[in-house]
Amino acid sequence: MKSVPIFSALGRRARPPTIARLMSLALDNPRLLSLAAGFTDNRTLPVAAVQSAVTTLAGHPRDTEWLQYGTNQGRPRLRELLATRLAAQESGLDVRATRDRLFVTNGSQQALYLSMQVLCDPGDIVLVDRPSYFVFLEMLTGLGVEARSLPVDAAGKIDAPALAALLARMQTRGELARLKAVYFVSYFSNPSGRSLDLAEKNALATTLAAHGAIVPVIEDAAYRELWFAAPPPAPSVLTLPAWDRFPRLYLSTLTKPFASGLKIGYGVCTDADWLARMLHTKGHHDFGTANLNQAVCEQVLAADGLDAQLAVSRPAYARKMRALHTALASAGLPARGWRWREAEGGLYLWLEAPVSLNTGLDSAFCHACVEAGVLYVPGELCFGDDAPTNFIRLSYGVLAEPELAEAGRRFASVVGTFGS
Ligand SMILES: Cc1ncc(COP(=O)(O)O)c(C=O)c1O
Repeated sequence: MKSVPIFSALGRRARPPTIARLMSLALDNPRLLSLAAGFTDNRTLPVAAVQSAVTTLAGHPRDTEWLQYGTNQGRPRLRELLATRLAAQESGLDVRATRDRLFVTNGSQQALYLSMQVLCDPGDIVLVDRPSYFVFLEMLTGLGVEARSLPVDAAGKIDAPALAALLARMQTRGELARLKAVYFVSYFSNPSGRSLDLAEKNALATTLAAHGAIVPVIEDAAYRELWFAAPPPAPSVLTLPAWDRFPRLYLSTLTKPFASGLKIGYGVCTDADWLARMLHTKGHHDFGTANLNQAVCEQVLAADGLDAQLAVSRPAYARKMRALHTALASAGLPARGWRWREAEGGLYLWLEAPVSLNTGLDSAFCHACVEAGVLYVPGELCFGDDAPTNFIRLSYGVLAEPELAEAGRRFASVVGTFGS
């Protein structure tokens, strides 16, 4: 008789990512235009910069270390270059200390997983922004960890009094001991496109501290460099004094601003013990991120290639955002009660439909969009709890401007048939 594996609790909890279901819908319909995936644009990927970096590396035949295993924490020179770049964005950041606390990962996604793996057990609680990065939320589910939303006001800003009330309730119910971390995407968020302002960041820290919730905080800055007109003004938790007493992990990546296929991300951790445990666990995962990919990024950063790439991609994404926004606005969505803000960076428009319209994965509206040849991410996936069903995430990362305009028209035509 054939034997079958008996899975661990983790293995038993594993589910296919919801986005995979969406993507399989797309495969069944070749004329479908996808506004779903958060991919970057193939047309602006930095082929010449990568080619030049590899040519430079291969130009010294006796020096082949870049084709050898690297170190678990990441290439020292790359870490120094990343720390230097971060320090240029944040006054008060010491380059050497930052370099020593910085570790290179297989995308910032791996750093997110490592952080949760060493902090959380099943049944623990993580506070997340509202809305939040849905792949992170699915990761929490996979780990058996409960996500709870940080309360927000009508404008989507952190609502400090409501947070104080939530923390007080958690205290009364004896839940604070299970609160292991706070997570938020602070710049041009996926999915909302919003950036947290200085007052919100300070109020968040002050409120957590005032309620005995000085727990590890994870600031996900994946889109920080992808601004259109101006960099986002608020500094990160690494330099804001209000966060001094918190163990902090700042996450960023070169996938969005440079090349997603290289999957080079990084974290900066202010707590030596937390950092060491994540590195030990990374040793179990892979004992080091792909050294060639790191070496390419190192060459690129040293030659100012990231800024050269951003000089191309920032205006390109700004134009693409406007093409999608204009298609939706000129098709009359605002008059039908739909609301969104033009993005100032990142890859997403976050649309709020009239509350009576269900846009969920199994909704008639979602199916009608697929029939009409356009795919989106249902907003309901992006909430830690208490998910509304009338939000939608649209990504303008992948399609060209004319396709975005066509996708916007298709989307608006479905909105028209739903009579909202
Ligand atoms: C908010 C956010 N964080 C982290 C990631 C992970 O990115 P990567 O692993 O490519 O660095 C993504 C990817 O889409 C994201 O949107």
